[in-house]
Amino acid sequence: MPPNPDSPNASRIEGFAALRMSVFQKLKPDSAIPLYQQLYEHLRVAILAGQLKHGTKLPSSRALADELGVSRNTILSAYDQLTAEGYLQSIEGKGTFVAHSLPETVLTASPRRTGTQARPRTHRLSERAEALLATPPMPHPSNEARRVRAFRSGLPALDAFPYERWAKLVSRHAHRLQPDHMTYQDRAGYRPLREAIANYVNVARQVHCTADQVVIVSGSQGALHLAARVLLNSSDQAWVEDPGYLGARTALVAAGARLIPVPVDDEGLQVDEGIARAPDARIAYVTPSHQFPIGMTMSLKRRLALLEWAKQADAYILEDDYDGEYRFDGRPLASLQGLDDHDSALYIGTFSKVLFPALRLGYIIVPTPLLDAFLAMRHSMDVNLPILEQAALAEFISEGHFTRHIRRMRMLYAERRAALLQAIQNLPLELYAPPTGMHLIGWLPDGVDDRAVARKAAEHQIRVMPLSLFAMEPLARGGLIIGYAAVNQEEIAVGVQRLGKALDAVYRA
Ligand SMILES: Cc1ncc(COP(=O)(O)O)c(C=O)c1O
Repeated sequence: MPPNPDSPNASRIEGFAALRMSVFQKLKPDSAIPLYQQLYEHLRVAILAGQLKHGTKLPSSRALADELGVSRNTILSAYDQLTAEGYLQSIEGKGTFVAHSLPETVLTASPRRTGTQARPRTHRLSERAEALLATPPMPHPSNEARRVRAFRSGLPALDAFPYERWAKLVSRHAHRLQPDHMTYQDRAGYRPLREAIANYVNVARQVHCTADQVVIVSGSQGALHLAARVLLNSSDQAWVEDPGYLGARTALVAAGARLIPVPVDDEGLQVDEGIARAPDARIAYVTPSHQFPIGMTMSLKRRLALLEWAKQADAYILEDDYDGEYRFDGRPLASLQGLDDHDSALYIGTFSKVLFPALRLGYIIVPTPLLDAFLAMRHSMDVNLPILEQAALAEFISEGHFTRHIRRMRMLYAERRAALLQAIQNLPLELYAPPTGMHLIGWLPDGVDDRAVARKAAEHQIRVMPLSLFAMEPLARGGLIIGYAAVNQEEIAVGVQRLGKALDAVYRA
């Protein structure tokens, strides 16, 4: 039976008296933490640790304030907080007591609270999380490594980003915010942005869709997660290009998919091989405009074969068109989705490569019969994405800045690509540089380990990604992904010299 605060006795007051010294010596007037909060925390810990027992009477706020030489408000604030949280009980005319109704479990349960060692808890992860942890993630460079630009891939030319224009648009929309914009928003995304995207992809990428089919997501990664959650059951098979994009693999695995690696050749995904390995797969993930990482374009024959398989198998195709805007020898190629007459292809676009990756805006074009499910899932994930950037982006597109920026970047990347090709031609690499995208491939001689070259290059302040990082089955030959979009001409010149030294060192070893 816990003592009743109605009958405090001398021993409890002694209990507090014994604690006085230890608690009050801990108070630090110079700390950034206010005194009342320090006092609150010390008393709370003492109660939880059982040093202050149920029913112990605390000194009056006035007496304690005098004793400690602090204001009475400090003591009152600490007592009030502890009373509000149920640690103390104040009884009119009698004083303040340690609550006698504190549950016994609170007093003894946690080792942190009692100072005793309890059994460490076992953390059990879901099978999906376990599978995700066993899947290689996209490399996430340290802050230091981020500063090295040559030859980072997947990053646009941030030195040529229209900062002023963008800042004006974001600020304009911040000033125009109305209460209507600040409540929960349309789960499909900001309507003017969806309309701007529908117009753009219809014209520029020959994607067939209305604005209703455009769902705004947080980059391609958001699209892949959304699609995987809507379309896959646990253990369903999903074809992925091999070598292929790690972000797609992690999103599919996180949804419980079993990945089926399907090799690529100079026409893209080998559809026959996919059918031989897993005819009943539910999903095929492809990058037809510019295969990641190797860079070939998927041939029309393969596109049609893939669509035909999807039709027969009732499967879906996730078309990731992450950098299809960048083609240097003519117009960008039409999308695979534009060839689909069976609602099998879902087209994924992102602003990461045309604007900047931290924007985290992208879209997925969903066949109309699937829209309800996609919107329900989208809503349950995070309701809607931040409105300000969506509004700024809608205007950036509708005012024509977006297509102008793409045109400028196409010219800039063509120049950087040409500079890289010129500088790198004497290095002992076999280059594969289709006129598209933001990187090229340097194949290594047979037997040379691409990871060893990438490590050696890093020692020379160069970032190249080894192709084998993206392969599920062993590659016949190693290679390097050499990005140029984010690398200016001087950096290209210096970078090629350093890469040459790294190659020399590995070849001679
Ligand atoms: C194949 C592929 N898809 C998509 C992306 C972009 O992803 P996100 O839109 O999530 O930034 C990248 C970026 O490197 C990529 O390589």
